[in-house]
Amino acid sequence: MNKAEFITAAGFALSLLFHVIQTEVCPPPCNCKPLEEMKGLQIDCSSRKLKEVPALPINTKRLYLQNNSLTTVSPGAFDSVLSLEEIKVSDNPWNCDRHILYLKLWMEDFSESSLANIRCATPAPVRMKPLKQLTGNELGICKRLLPIRSLQFFWRDLVLIGAAIFTLILLGWALKSSKKLVCQIKLTHGST
Ligand SMILES: *[C@@H]1O[C@H](CO)[C@@H](O)[C@H](O)[C@H]1NC(C)=O
Repeated sequence: MNKAEFITAAGFALSLLFHVIQTEVCPPPCNCKPLEEMKGLQIDCSSRKLKEVPALPINTKRLYLQNNSLTTVSPGAFDSVLSLEEIKVSDNPWNCDRHILYLKLWMEDFSESSLANIRCATPAPVRMKPLKQLTGNELGICKRLLPIRSLQFFWRDLVLIGAAIFTLILLGWALKSSKKLVCQIKLTHGST
């Protein structure tokens, strides 16, 4: 192994180690408590003016994020905590635009009752509304998808109709020429 290879390998090993430690360690602003009987951690990050969900240890069982300054959850933020059993996210100024969809879908899977506690703070039209009740229209998701979708369908339909007309013409032509052929065969047979 030459020097460059060694440095690369060492760097890789270090980053791997760092990642393992990172995912085992209590996120700095929070208060962590081992739960002996549940073989996991209780992570209390409540009332800490947090603007982002911190990196979470894999063995998080209870996660308290209530009373912070969270406006959204970045996609995938809860994907690593597979053995989570309880979560609290109320009393945050949630911004219910299309970026909140990850939280909404994740909560629908995890716990309907926790989802019911999430109320939007912004934008103005959905202020104080429960996130659970918001439709794709209100989250501004449909507006983005619809024009693209309908245009796609338009072109697809046009191609299909074109193909159908072409097939009909081809069929008509084939029928006509086959009649001619039959006629010719009859004629040639008749003459002999
Ligand atoms: C919410 O958090 C603030 C600090 O950010 C704290 O002063 C306040 O007491 C907390 N409220 C509740 C109900 O825990």
